Parts: sequence; structure tokens; C-alpha cells
Amino acid sequence: MKVRPNYQFPLHELIENRWSPRAFSDHMLSREQVLTLLEAARWAASCNNEQPWRFIWSLRDSSELYRKLLDCLLPGNQEWAATAPLLMLTLVQTDFTATGKPNRWAAHDLGLAIGNLTTQATAMDIYVHNMAGFSTPKVKEHFDLPENLEAMTMIAIGYLGDPQILSEYNRKRELEIQQRKPMTDLIPISS
Ligand SMILES: Cc1cc2nc3c(=O)[nH]c(=O)nc-3n(C[C@H](O)[C@H](O)[C@H](O)COP(=O)(O)O)c2cc1C
Repeated sequence: MKVRPNYQFPLHELIENRWSPRAFSDHMLSREQVLTLLEAARWAASCNNEQPWRFIWSLRDSSELYRKLLDCLLPGNQEWAATAPLLMLTLVQTDFTATGKPNRWAAHDLGLAIGNLTTQATAMDIYVHNMAGFSTPKVKEHFDLPENLEAMTMIAIGYLGDPQILSEYNRKRELEIQQRKPMTDLIPISS
């Protein structure tokens, strides 16, 4: 069990138990489990109920889709994320459907959806690792996407694995205690 940080205030276990692993076990996820995670994402709040989040996903299998998703990752992430049973590419629709005006809250709302997905995953003992380290040109090469869809992140998802499968560099990172800025840095003004 990874050493947990000292929380300033006790939190719900679904928040305390979450962290971003790099070692995933061989234990696969079922299609139903993936759809449960996406259902949690679907029920997030969003500006004007636009639901701008989009997800392209594949279980780790021999499919062309999985190969393409893995290929989009930068090598440093590819190295460990290849052990995850599920890869996702997250995207946002950058304009409002009704008006065509830019939706500057789209990334915010995708974050809420991924927050929901992550909480649901934690409740299922499943771990989520978000990644900005992917190649946008590769996404464009592999997926024929409309102009108003912007790729935001990729996510590796699965059950916890043994840190011994990682390189020495990643094993060290895996075992580090999570760090955060002090609360006072995050709240410039309060009563
Ligand atoms: C948008 C976003 C992008 C991230 N990109 C990467 C990444 O490319 N590679 C990686 O190993 N971790 C990535 N992370 C994971 C963060 O480094 C991690 O969440 C942070 O260090 C806090 O650790 P914790 O999630 O275990 O609490 C990303 C996280 C987020 C939310």
C-alpha cells in the first residue's frame, strides 16, 4: 500500500485513496466497467448542459484502435502506460452546439467529467492516470476529427500493479509520497 500523505482535514476515502500510478496489473477491465466509468463522466455538470467532453477508448487488445492510441503517447508515458488495460483520449467540443460561439468552459467541464469518472473508478478499486504527454499531430494522423474537437489529455486506467515492473526511475516516482502546495498558497483572499 502506497504511503498516504498527511491530510490537514480528514477527507472521504474516495478522495484519500486516489493517486496516479504507473504500474498496472494484468487484470483486465470488462466493457461494462468501462461503460460504468463513462456513465459517471456523463452525469457531470457543464456550462449550459453542453456536455462538451468526448472520449475515444480502447481496451488493451490487438486492435488497430488500441495501437493508434498507444502510438499517440510520448515515449516517456508509453513506456509505463502500455501496461494499463484501458487507454482513453479525451477531447472537447470547443464551440456551443446551439450558437457556434466559443465555449471557454469546455476544458473546465471535461475536468468535471474526469473528476466523476475518477471518483467512480476509485469506488471500484480502479486507478486513473491522466497524461498531457501525447502528440497532437499523431492524434490528427490517426483520427479523422472535426475542426471543433480538440484533444486535451490521454488517460491510462486499470488496477494497481507491482512497482517492480517499472524502470528504476519510474519505480522511485511510484513510491514517492504525494506533495501539495500549502492551503495558504491556494487561497489568496478569504474571510
Ligand atoms: C492534465 C494532467 C496531465 C498530466 N500529464 C502527465 C503525464 O504526461 N505524464 C505523467 O506521468 N503524469 C501526468 N499527470 C499526472 C500528474 O503528474 C499527477 O496527477 C500529479 O503529480 C499529482 O500526483 P497524484 O495524481 O498522484 O496526486 C498529469 C495530470 C494531469 C491532471
